[in-house]
Amino acid sequence: MCGIVGYIGDKQAAEFLLDGLSKLEYRGYDSAGIAVYDGAKIRVEKSVGRLAALRDKIGSNMPKGTLGIGHTRWATHGRPSDRNAHPHTDCSGDFVIVHNGIIENYLALKEDLIEKGHDFKSETDTEVVAHLLEEVYNGDFVSSIREVLRRIEGSYSLVFMSRKHPDMLVCTKQDNPLVIGIGEGENFIASDIPAIISRTRRTYILNDGELAVVKKDSIQITNREGEAVTKKVFEVNWNAEAAEKGGYEHFMLKEIHEQPKAVRDTMSQRIAKDGKRIVMDELKWDADYLNSFNKIYIVACGTAYHAGLVGKFYIEKMARVLVEVDVASEFRYRNPIVDENTLLIVVSQSGETSDTLAALKESKRLGAKTLAITNVVGSSIAREADQVLYTWAGPEIAVASTKAYTTQLILFFMLSLYMAQIRGTQSPERVEALISRLKEIPAQVSETLSDVEPIKTFAKQYGFNEDVFYIGRALDYEVALEGALKLKEVSYIHAEAYAAGELKHGTLALIIEGVPVIALATQKSVYEKTLSNIKEVKARDAVVIGLAAAGDTELSKYVDHVITVPQTDELLIPLLTVVPLQLLAYYAAITRGCDVDKPRNLAKSVTVE
Ligand code: AGP
Repeated sequence: MCGIVGYIGDKQAAEFLLDGLSKLEYRGYDSAGIAVYDGAKIRVEKSVGRLAALRDKIGSNMPKGTLGIGHTRWATHGRPSDRNAHPHTDCSGDFVIVHNGIIENYLALKEDLIEKGHDFKSETDTEVVAHLLEEVYNGDFVSSIREVLRRIEGSYSLVFMSRKHPDMLVCTKQDNPLVIGIGEGENFIASDIPAIISRTRRTYILNDGELAVVKKDSIQITNREGEAVTKKVFEVNWNAEAAEKGGYEHFMLKEIHEQPKAVRDTMSQRIAKDGKRIVMDELKWDADYLNSFNKIYIVACGTAYHAGLVGKFYIEKMARVLVEVDVASEFRYRNPIVDENTLLIVVSQSGETSDTLAALKESKRLGAKTLAITNVVGSSIAREADQVLYTWAGPEIAVASTKAYTTQLILFFMLSLYMAQIRGTQSPERVEALISRLKEIPAQVSETLSDVEPIKTFAKQYGFNEDVFYIGRALDYEVALEGALKLKEVSYIHAEAYAAGELKHGTLALIIEGVPVIALATQKSVYEKTLSNIKEVKARDAVVIGLAAAGDTELSKYVDHVITVPQTDELLIPLLTVVPLQLLAYYAAITRGCDVDKPRNLAKSVTVE
């Protein structure tokens, strides 16, 4: 979603602002702008399009000054255009703001302000905040901002700047991320850590309702009531290149190849030294707590939802607890049966997805206990949930989620084993045997990544097809869903995943000569059935790429190509079969010349409903 940066110090602000915004490009945007105070007035430069268009517009006439804010916008209210780009100002130019989120009552506020003579230049909800500040300004910047916050409703991270108060920036947040970078004689504000990591690793992560007065030598944080808040410094342990591409052509490829490490990091602290048990010290769970639930919901969006489908399979199979999975945008509008006997598990890489956050808040309101699985420490979802399990995948910058998915699966696998230990639904021997297979996964993922040439060939051979089908049964079907989404979102090929047994109920009508079908056939319990579905599509002259576990000598008789993954417990195979599907999507996108890390119309973190 939108990216925000702010600078106050002794250096020129503009270069940091533009560089910081470039590190936030992954959030998806359609326009950008900066505002810099030059000692007399605030100069605002903004442009529709990429940051390059903004730089072109500025040219060599870089704004001068040591106080500034910047923004990359992902349009919600008002189409992408120069005048709708942020930053936005009031009538006088005294106040300038940038915003991420939605001001839900902006229309009523705007009508009232227009009646009072305010002149609006944009169609955005954000501009209302600048004029409202002008309207309520009483000479005290902070108290006037607090009055504005009392009047607006919605979700926001906001940074305020004023030529009347050039010694400070003021920022606050509600349901959207905002971090403060602590420098030496300078301080930074950003939506996300990659924007500031090259300047400082010491940060404050703002909580909802907190407001910070950021000066070049001080940072004062207060809560909604204006009381001082003491914050712990959050040391960012990513080094600068960790948020860069690390030698890969795209973030997506880098993050696919980071999966062995991400999976290892996510599991390592959660396996007892003797390898016989899962330990989850971050969870305050015992048998009574677990047995107090009569239902578990897993709620998420997109790839995180697909991970939830696998999580359901794991928890029901190993812990023998009933689980229902739903997409967040549907869940809270179907009046779900949620009460104090419900456990809600939300899954979110960014920890900022608006639909997922809203489902979490609604479930809490209805009395549910909540657990978040997320990759971002201090994210809104992490702080809203009762308990949190972090994936340790490191920053995931590409819009297409890859290492987040595999680390989410690992966490679900370990959580279901942990629940099984508490509930006694798996023998200690079975738990130990599964843990020993689990520990092999990082190396097996590496092995799966070791030879990408066949997949590159398939991508070249079939990358210009406009339709591709993915089929599978049981866990193979859950992975097929994720494979299809990957291909869709980065290569723009129309890909669909189907439960293999469903083909004859309609989809088979679409299977014609030459159409590529990716068939996953790793689940022994349904292997013969899957084979017969493969024969169905072959009989219609489809081209079939089969995915099999090593040692399978049968599948190659019925398909055109076979990709094999290492043998492991069939519960863990999704960790391996998803990797070639991620690579297939990536290379198909390359073949088609797509913008792999920033696919059209998509954002890395969807912080609007
Ligand atoms: C996945 O590749 C997509 N980028 C998208 O579906 C994503 O998984 C979804 O928006 C959820 O994001 P989250 O995990 O940050 O909540």
